[in-house]
Amino acid sequence: MDYLEIKGGKSLSGEVTISGAKNAALPIIAATILSEKEVTLTNLPNVVDIRTLLKLLTMLGGTVEYHDNVAKINNGSISSTKAVYEIVSKMRASILVLGPLLARFGECDVSLPGGCAIGQRPIDLHLKALEAMGAQIEIKGGYVHANAPEGLKGAKIIFDKITVGGTENIVMAAALAHGTTTIVNAAREPEVVQLCEMISKAGVKIDGIGSDELTIEGTGGKVLEFEETEVIPDRIEAGTYLCAAAITHSTITLNKVNPEHIQTSIDKLESMGCRFDIENDRITIHSPEALKPVNLTTLEYPGFPTDMQAQFMALAVFAKGESIIEERLFENRFMHVSELNRLGADIWLKGNIAAVKGVERLNGADVMATDLRASSALVLAGLVAEGTTNIHRIYHLDRGYDDLEGKLSALGADITRKKEQS
Ligand code: UD1
Repeated sequence: MDYLEIKGGKSLSGEVTISGAKNAALPIIAATILSEKEVTLTNLPNVVDIRTLLKLLTMLGGTVEYHDNVAKINNGSISSTKAVYEIVSKMRASILVLGPLLARFGECDVSLPGGCAIGQRPIDLHLKALEAMGAQIEIKGGYVHANAPEGLKGAKIIFDKITVGGTENIVMAAALAHGTTTIVNAAREPEVVQLCEMISKAGVKIDGIGSDELTIEGTGGKVLEFEETEVIPDRIEAGTYLCAAAITHSTITLNKVNPEHIQTSIDKLESMGCRFDIENDRITIHSPEALKPVNLTTLEYPGFPTDMQAQFMALAVFAKGESIIEERLFENRFMHVSELNRLGADIWLKGNIAAVKGVERLNGADVMATDLRASSALVLAGLVAEGTTNIHRIYHLDRGYDDLEGKLSALGADITRKKEQS
């Protein structure tokens, strides 16, 4: 297993190019199941989660050619509709194959993903919506067995809670259903928008793209033909590099980013004293000598993203004053708190609220990554901690950040990947 060694105290400078969004790429890859023809996807990030989902497609019988951030996927040859535990347990987002498999083949078995470090993360809303579309669902032996021999039927789905993956699964299912599906209280994340646009360009009429109500006219079982699709820039990776600049009091430029998608992070960073030059898909951040504290509450898009909460907590640790951070989406997304405290942070937790008192300095230590975004908060803290910070269990980072240590090193950080001694 690898770990990251960071020697803190270096300031950053230069430019970094943002990769394609993992969370946009995953549903788009799943959507290729709706086609029997070859689909080309470009700007895929080079991260483990993408390789995991592509492997799942090959296990189902699809063919995949993948190199240099481009995948050519042909799911015309799918011969199995079983998404096995071995893959789904590695990555929860594998549940995104449920909607398209059921829509195209009328049946499938998908392993239940189970809980994860940040919370229980049930899939009840996905299942309830598919049942409303006529699917029979049975949970047995750790698998969801879904059946719709006559095909799925359009329905009115009202989500009790906004769910990104749930919305994506139902959009994909509805694309091949018989009749019209309306999704009320749909997720509006840019990743959902890109999936809808890809399906809409394949000839499926979708109204309300980008709003909280989507209306999808299904093809009645006719498979789709997709155009080549370029994955949108990763707004969470972009936000993480902005935080890296802010915490190290640096000026850096991000290339290939969509400023609109990271507006809430820009607003919060401005309130902390950072300044921005924005020109098309380039953003330059100028950071102050001392960051002001920040108050934030995570919400669904266009609110402040839960996937940026841990990184902003790292900034709050180093700000002058007290910050309040409230997590509304996941019940257990504060695993980074005790690790940040090990580096010398002063964070108090009460339920889903963290009170962060800024400290003058952090001291390097050995810390453990617990989930993807928590790990990036530890990297940010390591960039400013005095001495050496070793971050263990970085397979979490490898799931979602494309060449994190390469990109940070190029900006001037002292960060090295090392092998654990066994
Ligand atoms: C996606 C993102 C993840 C991000 C999250 C919230 C991907 C691959 N992952 O995850 O990075 O943190 O959105 O922005 O895109 N819920 C239920 N029942 C369900 C489904 C969800 O109760 O059937 C709950 C969840 O437990 C959570 C909330 O709804 O509390 C939001 O979850 P959801 O939007 O579904 O997150 P994911 O799609 O899993």
